[in-house]
Amino acid sequence: MAELSTAPGTPLVRLAGVGKRFGAVVALRSVDLDVHAGEIVALVGDNGAGKSTLLKIIAGVHPPSHGEILLDGEPVRMATPSDARAHGIEVVYQDLALADNQPVYMNLFLGRELVSGPLRRLDRARMAAETAELLKELDIRIPSPRVPIRALSGGQRQGVAIARATHWGERLILMDEPTAALGVQETARVEDTILRMKERGKAILIVSHSLDQVFRLADRICVLRRGEQVGVRETAQTDGDEIVAMITGLR
Ligand SMILES: Nc1ncnc2c1ncn2[C@@H]1O[C@H](COP(=O)(O)OP(=O)(O)OP(=O)(O)O)[C@@H](O)[C@H]1O
Ligand SMILES: [Mg+2]
Repeated sequence: MAELSTAPGTPLVRLAGVGKRFGAVVALRSVDLDVHAGEIVALVGDNGAGKSTLLKIIAGVHPPSHGEILLDGEPVRMATPSDARAHGIEVVYQDLALADNQPVYMNLFLGRELVSGPLRRLDRARMAAETAELLKELDIRIPSPRVPIRALSGGQRQGVAIARATHWGERLILMDEPTAALGVQETARVEDTILRMKERGKAILIVSHSLDQVFRLADRICVLRRGEQVGVRETAQTDGDEIVAMITGLR
């Protein structure tokens, strides 16, 4: 975290009154949320609460209908996903968006391939070496960076998608249900990887339906209900009962 140039108090990302309408549907009313470097914030709420919509706004997929996004204290307008990427924001989508027939290293560099020489040939050796190093650093166990994605387990694929986001996401990693399709052991490994990203000083915003997972990972929990921000709690100062009550609106 020492390499970060921002003042300790400035959040990497601040959402100020962010809302979204789709025609007559109010998907999100007004969200205020800070995410700091080295912090994991969980976004929870029932189906249709607006969680994915919020991630997509931050990822430049949907423009907000109102409100502002500030990065390092500066308001930014992100009209496309490549704008968000240019600001160091990466997303791990539920479908992972990996190229099944390509080797792991090509997926790591998808759309940002390394080339060398006057003919600008793909520098496969360097991409494979950098991939191997990153996977080792994140303790993601894959036989080789040269195997195709289709030869990997669900957990390993998730690991590759997370490694890619970690590699390119200087600021913020957004994750939508990263372990929804995984078994217990694979989930544990992916959670380890997420904690390693946090150690590297990334800001992480994660959507999860598993409250156990949320309590294992998150520093803070933001609850949405039918597009409304019900509240934000420090994980250490709340419990499952309170969060469930906030999610359902029942007390
Ligand atoms: N592109 C869209 N066009 C119209 N309505 C949308 C669009 N995307 C989302 N919505 C609506 O916005 C609301 C919030 O949806 P969103 O996908 O953000 O929920 P969610 O919290 O991610 O739910 P889930 O847990 O089921 O993934 C829903 O009412 C949904 O129907
Ligand atoms: Mg969703």
